[in-house]
Amino acid sequence: MSRFSLSFRLDPQHKAPLYRQIYLRVKQAIMDGKLKTGSRVPSVRAMASELGVARATVENAYGLLTAEGFLQSRGQAGTTVSAPASLSLPSSSPESETKVHKPINPMLPSVSSLPFQLGLPALDAFPRAIWSRIVSRQIRHTSMNDLGHPPLTGVDTLRNSVARYLQLSRGFTCRPEQIFICGGYAPVLDLIIGSLLLPGDGVWLEDPGYPVTQAFFRAAGATPVAVSVDDEGMNIQQAVADFPQARFAVVTPAHQSPTGVTMSLSRRMALLDWAAKQQAWVIEDDYDSEFRYQGQPLPSLKSLDTHGRVIYAGTFSKTLFPALRCSYVVVPESLVEKVEAYCPLRICATPPLLQSSIAEFIEQGHFYRHLKRMRQLYAERRGYLEQALTAAFSTDMLRINQQVGGIQLCAKLNRSLDDAVIAKCAREQGLAVQALSDWQVFRREAGDELRPNGLLMGFPNIISQEEAGFLSQRLRKIFSEISGVGKYP
Ligand SMILES: Cc1ncc(COP(=O)(O)O)c(C=O)c1O
Repeated sequence: MSRFSLSFRLDPQHKAPLYRQIYLRVKQAIMDGKLKTGSRVPSVRAMASELGVARATVENAYGLLTAEGFLQSRGQAGTTVSAPASLSLPSSSPESETKVHKPINPMLPSVSSLPFQLGLPALDAFPRAIWSRIVSRQIRHTSMNDLGHPPLTGVDTLRNSVARYLQLSRGFTCRPEQIFICGGYAPVLDLIIGSLLLPGDGVWLEDPGYPVTQAFFRAAGATPVAVSVDDEGMNIQQAVADFPQARFAVVTPAHQSPTGVTMSLSRRMALLDWAAKQQAWVIEDDYDSEFRYQGQPLPSLKSLDTHGRVIYAGTFSKTLFPALRCSYVVVPESLVEKVEAYCPLRICATPPLLQSSIAEFIEQGHFYRHLKRMRQLYAERRGYLEQALTAAFSTDMLRINQQVGGIQLCAKLNRSLDDAVIAKCAREQGLAVQALSDWQVFRREAGDELRPNGLLMGFPNIISQEEAGFLSQRLRKIFSEISGVGKYP
């Protein structure tokens, strides 16, 4: 086994943080064949001492390389270079062919942050030092009373902060009592469905749309109604014609998940009009509206809701980070008692310590500053990816949807390519792209004209043009391997 010599230096002035520089240099050495499969990389301690950085910096770099399959930890035997799948051509054995056609499960996020991971904000840009200070302060000020059972509906300080934030940023007023703090979007759905849904109730679902929403309503015994999405968002006219008696509609009006389109004002009004007449509930999943690249975020659907039919869901997973497991739902006045009565069965699982810390983070102004910085950063990082994909692919092969905001990119594929096969292959090679066809409400066979065909990619953690180029080339190679040499030169 040959050892990797440390022939590089870090640049503290570089835009990329130190761990990222190490990660990129080691990865490049592997890709260039300078580091061979099986060779041992220096221990964390040796690398940190040689480069003059903290051990945690090297650990972060190695962790990322291990998650992507470039390195392998062998305990006492050290860390070695594994054979990265992306460097080897797929075998043409029948076994590998059947493997490729297995659908991936878009509901299962990767536990590690693989490239293109959906739903992940820029982890490197979160102000961890400020956050640690706030959490430490909250711990120091823990009183005896804080040790008992927490409020079922969420901590009051956070409910107050969220109410103020929504008034300022999402354009509607609510009482803190209308806000229920939950442990993520799934618990929000659980609370609402448990409080309101009757078996067999019809629910309009965006098609394609978020698989978690589909799964929850299905599991609760609802009747899913697939409603197509075009460049104005959910097609309300079609939904009214197909299934006017539905009791729920779930929409992502700011940036439709996954296509990224914004719901037009006329569609918003038509949806609210239907809900008022039908006495139906509209769930507004406002999961990433904060990230609009130009101008201010559009007002929410809830801000137009004069009849009290909109249930508003927001999350801190994108605005802060997903490991917090903290979200909120705002219910109309008429539902407060009903949902409160259901809360003992679905207690808020986010620890009060974290809820209070989020409230302090908001009240001290860090939240607003962070969002402002992230809006700029995401526009920049999306630009890297768009440019790199445009350079790597012809528009005949892959066409990028234009989008005004959000943290994932959607690209349509040529009909001759199967998005599910490409996503599966990419996944096996450590790229977390997802197939648009996996987000359908009802599965359509490959070859069906109505089957959406495209790829979804998260970009907030692509930190440079260089990295975007590298990842796009890896993806391009997968296309060539699948389509056969020469089909797409
Ligand atoms: C469409 C959509 N809604 C809601 C969420 C929020 O999920 P959670 O708050 O559980 O992280 C996500 C996360 O990726 C999402 O994509």
